[in-house]
Amino acid sequence: MTIRKVGVVGCGLMGSGIAQVAAMSGYETLVSDVSEEILQKGFGRIEDSLSKFVEKGTLSAEQRQETLARLKRTLRVEDYTDCDIVIEAIIENVQAKKDLFAQLDRICKPEAILASNTSSISITEMAAVLTPERQRRFLGLHFFNPVPLMKLVEVIPSLFTNEEIVARATEFAKSLGKTPVRAKDRVGFIANRLLVPYLIDAVRALEEGVGSIEDIDATMKLGCNHPMGPFTLLDFVGLDTTYYIANIMYEEYKDPRFAPPPLLKQMVLAGWHGRKTGRGFYDYTDPKNPKPMKF
Ligand SMILES: NC(=O)c1ccc[n+]([C@@H]2O[C@H](COP(=O)([O-])OP(=O)(O)OC[C@H]3O[C@@H](n4cnc5c(N)ncnc54)[C@H](O)[C@@H]3O)[C@@H](O)[C@H]2O)c1
Repeated sequence: MTIRKVGVVGCGLMGSGIAQVAAMSGYETLVSDVSEEILQKGFGRIEDSLSKFVEKGTLSAEQRQETLARLKRTLRVEDYTDCDIVIEAIIENVQAKKDLFAQLDRICKPEAILASNTSSISITEMAAVLTPERQRRFLGLHFFNPVPLMKLVEVIPSLFTNEEIVARATEFAKSLGKTPVRAKDRVGFIANRLLVPYLIDAVRALEEGVGSIEDIDATMKLGCNHPMGPFTLLDFVGLDTTYYIANIMYEEYKDPRFAPPPLLKQMVLAGWHGRKTGRGFYDYTDPKNPKPMKF
């Protein structure tokens, strides 16, 4: 089966990015979320990102229009019946994802591939809610933020996934211009296994007064040649998402390296989720000139 139509569930940071690259790569693409307002916000992000590609000269104005014409939106999961692959990019919550996959399994055509963009949840655990036929056609496809710019996709088979499906999903990732790597189904996979302890250690360092937000960020940028410091990255990823991932990893490994520090939890409870809410470790009232928060 050739992949022609792509479904994306969730039109937040990641879902909107995945839908954008699928449509840019020539696939008919359907994306959903829980409200029209969120879908509109997601489409706004896509339009802005496409405009930036046009400004840079990497996309023509015509290609931008063609991409937008390939993108459709819906509020109904039932509309995914004729998709060849459906990629889930909803909140990082095991039960929410299991409920969605059980529903998609019933709705999607038998030959459709289902994939999760989870950052940390075990693919095998989610596969448990699927029928045996679908379990073989289900895997993790973990994109990175911002999806239109980041090259990597982690491809994560569960204990059930058929090798032919892994090969097809890998080819699909390549067709989106991405570089796939294969990761074992261990909570956090490769990237977050290494990244999450680093990010939350930066929050601990801040709590302990080792350095200010700006100085810790400057240290990792200028001293270690990272493209951005840990607090800028945390604000990009989303503090809520990082907090959920850290909790899932701590729950799995019972290793304090993954335990989210109190400040991160407080900020999530306060609704300071980073760039997407206008405030995180920096205040984005003036998005071009973020100001570090004082704690
Ligand atoms: N933020 C990152 O850097 C990053 C990177 C890689 C993977 N991920 C993973 O991608 C997923 C989404 O993360 P995000 O950063 O886009 O979060 P987000 O909060 O920006 O978006 C999640 C979206 O899912 C929607 N949603 C929730 N339940 C839904 C449902 N049942 N049906 C349809 N839509 C639903 C929400 O309304 C929201 O718009 C998570 O699993 C996250 O771990 C995130």
